[in-house]
Amino acid sequence: MSDKLQQRNGLDFAVADLSLASFGRHQMRLAEHEMPGLMSLRKEYEGQFPLRGARVAGSLHMTIQTAVLIETLVALGADVRWVSCNIFSTQDEAAAAIVVGPEGTVEAPTGTPVFAWKGETLEEYWWCTEQLFNFADGQGPNMILDDGGDATLLVHKGVEFEAAGAVPQATPEDHHEYTIILDTLRRSLASDPQRFTRIAADTRGVTEETTTGVARLYKLAKEGALLFPAINVNDAVTKSKFDNKYGIRHSLVDGLNRATDVMLGGKLAVVCGYGDVGKGSAETLRGQGARVVVTEIDPICALQAAMDGMQVVRIEDVVSEADIFITTTGGQDIITPEHMAAMKHNAIVGNVGHFDDEIDMAGLAKVPGIEKVEVKPQVHEWRFPDGHAVLVLSEGRLMNLGNATGHPSFVMSNSFTNQVMAQIELWTKPGEYEKQVFVLPKHLDEKVARLHLDALGVRLTELTKKQAEYLGVAVEGPYKPDHYRY
Ligand code: NAI
Repeated sequence: MSDKLQQRNGLDFAVADLSLASFGRHQMRLAEHEMPGLMSLRKEYEGQFPLRGARVAGSLHMTIQTAVLIETLVALGADVRWVSCNIFSTQDEAAAAIVVGPEGTVEAPTGTPVFAWKGETLEEYWWCTEQLFNFADGQGPNMILDDGGDATLLVHKGVEFEAAGAVPQATPEDHHEYTIILDTLRRSLASDPQRFTRIAADTRGVTEETTTGVARLYKLAKEGALLFPAINVNDAVTKSKFDNKYGIRHSLVDGLNRATDVMLGGKLAVVCGYGDVGKGSAETLRGQGARVVVTEIDPICALQAAMDGMQVVRIEDVVSEADIFITTTGGQDIITPEHMAAMKHNAIVGNVGHFDDEIDMAGLAKVPGIEKVEVKPQVHEWRFPDGHAVLVLSEGRLMNLGNATGHPSFVMSNSFTNQVMAQIELWTKPGEYEKQVFVLPKHLDEKVARLHLDALGVRLTELTKKQAEYLGVAVEGPYKPDHYRY
């Protein structure tokens, strides 16, 4: 793993190929034009550097859009190190462009340290995540920007084991990935027994991008175990009601097309989960002319799906008829080896929930006589002994990022504008937030939306003073109470 580690011009990094930087830079230029929220924050804070002194450890898909986020954090004064939060989601040209930087060259890079490449092993993934914590002069980070909570998890587990003075041995029941995390922390403890304890004490907070990471944070807070304040970026309206829904509406079909190029019209598609991501997934598949059915456990979301005109079924009802299965639940074991054994020949199985255990890939590999054939990277044919096969995308991991390049810039500008504002909030107000999970105030949510209106030619109606008084709101907002659901 460390053979990927390079040092050039005083910068450490580990990426696939630095010579891809100019390809990445061209794409970033186009992305910047599509990211008005981030670009206007750069303008608003020009010369002020609100993040000066912040050492931000970022773990979030290393895409072109994230590259624009990173350079926004840097423009606002932050010192940044970055990894991807998924083994397949890195765009190698984006990683290269960020290391080289806007002013640097491949020979003399002057950008930001990145440790990420497309197609990491799990061991490499956790090695990369560990590199996040090695800022210059032996310092650790003092801010975390997380997607899914892996960087936060490493700090919390690190502190727990440092307090105990030892890292436990993995048990046979432990997930393979957890044994790698334990190995990573064992190495860390041996070289510096107080490393994560210091990092946790220095960290002013974490801003978390996604539903799954946020769920982990609320769990820690409930147990009284959260070590620093957290801002739940996901539940900003301009994040989850846009990125999760409209973003997947773009990138799910993009991933299916790039992976399989199969005609979607007329096919029977099953969307498991009808939350924000499920709603966008169902809509986009329907837009392609697929016949979409939905599975749900929540009666409210099930009723929404039914009222949106989709049949709500149990997976067993359709498993042998459906052509495409997409999981969007953030849960576990949604598609089992038994389901896949009963599927049609060449049924497509993909997951867009955060972790890979929505599809029981470990169980699939254990089916007696099963054969795995690589069609191309991130597309595998799993041949059952009876002769039928299923096509599994991105090994069960986020296929919209593994088989395509994730959500487009415009929608990510909404998410990332929230991220930057959340970083500024926690960094500039030390001591004002307790070790709990917070959401950004509504006026900032409305600000994010406002920053994206001009680009779409939106002409917003302005309230008169009389109308505002009648509604009981201020002319300049916020316009809705916190309990409003959009
Ligand atoms: P959500 O909570 O709004 O939706 C999940 C839905 O799945 C809920 O309605 C829940 O009732 C349902 N569900 C749970 N267990 C189920 C089961 N066994 N069978 C059927 N339905 C079940 O969450 P959201 O925001 O839609 O996120 C879902 C996942 O997608 C999370 O893991 C999140 O981190 C991830 N995500 C992925 C993105 C991507 O680019 N691929 C973007 C944003 C979020």
